[in-house]
Amino acid sequence: MTDSYQAALARSAAIEQRLEDEPASLRMLTGDRPTGALHIGHYFGSIKNRVKLQQSGAEIWQLIADYQVITDRDMLGDIQGSVRSLTIDNIAAGLDPDRATIFTHSAVPALNQLMLPFLSLVSVAELQRNPTVKEEAKSAGITSIGGLLLTYPVHQAADILFCKANVVPVGRDQLPHLEQTRVVARRFNERYGATFPEPDALLSEATLILGLDGTKMSKSKGNVIELRMTADETAKKLRGAKTDSDRLITYDPAARPEVANLLLLISLCEGVAPEQVADEIGDGGGGVLKKRLTEAINTELAPLRARRIELEQDPTYVSDILRSGNERANEVAEVTLGEVRERMGMVYT
Ligand code: TRP
Repeated sequence: MTDSYQAALARSAAIEQRLEDEPASLRMLTGDRPTGALHIGHYFGSIKNRVKLQQSGAEIWQLIADYQVITDRDMLGDIQGSVRSLTIDNIAAGLDPDRATIFTHSAVPALNQLMLPFLSLVSVAELQRNPTVKEEAKSAGITSIGGLLLTYPVHQAADILFCKANVVPVGRDQLPHLEQTRVVARRFNERYGATFPEPDALLSEATLILGLDGTKMSKSKGNVIELRMTADETAKKLRGAKTDSDRLITYDPAARPEVANLLLLISLCEGVAPEQVADEIGDGGGGVLKKRLTEAINTELAPLRARRIELEQDPTYVSDILRSGNERANEVAEVTLGEVRERMGMVYT
C-alpha cells in the first residue's frame, strides 16, 4: 500500500466521521461519463455513497461528464441516450433532484473556462505521469494520447472546484485525479490567495469489485451487471460467471479471486460478511453461489429498477431536471469565475 493511498484512506475515514458530526459542512461533487449504462461496480463503488451523503444532509452536485467522452474516442455515440440513461440511473438509485444539482459539462461555460488558469499551474511532465490517464488510454486501445485526455485531470479539477466541493466519492482508480485537484487548489491558493478547498475522496469498501470473469470490470468485456438489466437478464448473466472446480466455497481473495468476488457482491447486497456467506453455502458449489447472488442482486436492485421504468415513461422529466441543474451550475460557476478573475486582477470595469 502506497503512502499516498494510506493518506487518502485516513482522510476518507475523517470524512465518514464528519458525515456523522457535521454533515451540513460537506459539499459533494462526483461525476459519471456518459458512455453507457451504470453497473453494479458504480452502484457499490460510488452511488450508494452519494445517496448516503444526500440523506445525511450534505449538499450534492452530480456531474454528467459529457466532454470526457471525447477524451479517448472520436465519436460521441448516442450521447443524448447515454445522458438520459445516466440521469435516470442516478435518480432511480435515490438522488433527489430537488436536493441534488444534476448537470452536464458542456452546458456550463464558466466551469470550462477555469481550465485556463488551472492549466498554468501544472507541468506537462506531471500530466504525463498520471497513472489513470495512462490506464484509460490503454483500456481504450489508443496509442496516441490526445490533448484533452492528457489534460483531463485538470478539467476534472475544474469540475470539482467550480462549486468548491470538499468531498468526492470515487473508486480508488480516481485518486490520482483527486490528488491533481488538490495540487491545483493548493497552488492557486498560494499564488493568488485562499480561494479553493482541498477536497477529500470518500472511498467505498467496495473499490475492489471485479467483473464476472474475475478481471477488471469493463462494459466492453461484457462482464458487468447493468443496473437497468431485468431480473432474468441478471440471472442469465450470472449463470455465465466464472467460478472454479472446488465445490467447497471459501472466501480466499488471493487464491480464488472469482469465487471471492461473487461472495463479496453477496456480502454487499445482504450486509453479511463474505466469510459467513461462504460458510453458509459450504459444499453447495458454484451453482448455489450464483443462485444466491442472483437473488441478492435482484432483491437489492428491484426498487431502483421499478422506479427506472416509471421515469422512462415521462418524456420531459429528464430534460426538465437537466435544464434546472444546468441553470444552477451556471450561476455558481459564474460566481467562482468572477472570484478567480478578481484574485488574478483581471477585472477591467
Ligand atoms: N473521471 C471520472 C470517471 O471516469 C468521472 C468524473 C468526471 C468525475 N468528473 C469528475 C468523478 C469529478 C469525480 C469528480 O469515472
